[in-house]
Amino acid sequence: MAPIKAALLGFGTVGQGVYEALKTHREQLKSVLGEEVIIEAILVKDGAKKRDVDEHILVTTDFDEVLNIPDLQIVFEAIVGEEPGFTYLSKAIEKGCRVITANKVMFARHGKTLLEKAEAAGVSVGYEATTAGGTPIIRSISQLLQVNDILSVEAILNGTSNYILTNMREKGSAFEDVLKTAQDLGYAEADPVNDVEGFDAFYKLMILSELSFGSSPNWDEVERKGITEVSSEQIEVFTRWGYKVKHLARIRSDSGLFTASVKPVLVDSEHPLYGVEDVQNAIMVETSLAGKVTVQGAGAGKLPTASAMVEDLTYVLQSHSGAAVRKKQSVLKVDSSSSESGS
Ligand code: NAP
Ligand code: HSE
Repeated sequence: MAPIKAALLGFGTVGQGVYEALKTHREQLKSVLGEEVIIEAILVKDGAKKRDVDEHILVTTDFDEVLNIPDLQIVFEAIVGEEPGFTYLSKAIEKGCRVITANKVMFARHGKTLLEKAEAAGVSVGYEATTAGGTPIIRSISQLLQVNDILSVEAILNGTSNYILTNMREKGSAFEDVLKTAQDLGYAEADPVNDVEGFDAFYKLMILSELSFGSSPNWDEVERKGITEVSSEQIEVFTRWGYKVKHLARIRSDSGLFTASVKPVLVDSEHPLYGVEDVQNAIMVETSLAGKVTVQGAGAGKLPTASAMVEDLTYVLQSHSGAAVRKKQSVLKVDSSSSESGS
């Protein structure tokens, strides 16, 4: 039988992780998928940079060269920003490829369109890696939605922010120093403003909203604050009082009326997300039948994110439509004036 031909868009932290995971877990994947997965091409921005990859692989800056590979079945996307990721994945879907993305900025904005394009083309889109790194939250919510209604989501969705807050509290480290370490470890984005100003958690929350409720609030009306105003002095005082600062992303839908916010919040030891530390993410989903379900794991980093993308392979090869997106009542308005206090 012929191997499964794949292309990789982006060869940074995540792209290299996918390349490595496909190599180190080749036999497991072959036994699950029935065929070997072969990377045929890697798309990068800087064609002059030396890449440590097998000789047969085409390394290119020209997406058309990737798209023209005969019998290309899978496109992994791990580049940065809305474009060119959206255009590339749209073209790949139109050509009949299954696509798998880690790009939450792009997917938050264009996920619905990509899922519709995929439905029309009879292929599927994997986007587990867009939200909470290696935690299987997209799969978990999709599964819960088979029977349950989702009532609310409360989550720590940015690994970098949680890592910074943990290290400021536990080690007394300075914000800038921990951010630098988070960048070195591949947790933070190339432009870390998205992480520390709450945009990254916001995009992930909007992806979870579309999945959970079939719609999302008007983006401009969601309160969004990052962690840059949280000082070491504040953390010291809150710690003495028995509180931790956690960067929480929260959304609730009551008959189509959204309450949503992304901001630092003081939590005590009774709070379910109190013990979630370092780069960990955790998502607590309140459901109509199953009660509260929490999923926790590494929220960022090379191999956890690669794991989510490679796990998507079985999903996109076995199903022909997007993840279960249930159409719920459309949004009426957003009430972002949550009564709980931020820091
Ligand atoms: P990164 O280390 O900055 O790597 C980005 C890669 O994309 C680089 O290889 C770059 O090429 C390539 N690229 C950028 N613009 C391109 C363009 N216009 N055309 C072709 N290639 C282009 O980023 P990363 O951390 O791997 O993240 C990749 C994506 O995954 C982002 O959307 C990010 O939000 C998402 N994500 C990251 C993590 C994480 O833990 N890092 C976790 C989940 C999701 P060059 O090598 O030539 O510069
Ligand atoms: N920069 C992101 C984070 C990567 O720190 O959570 C995972 O999406």
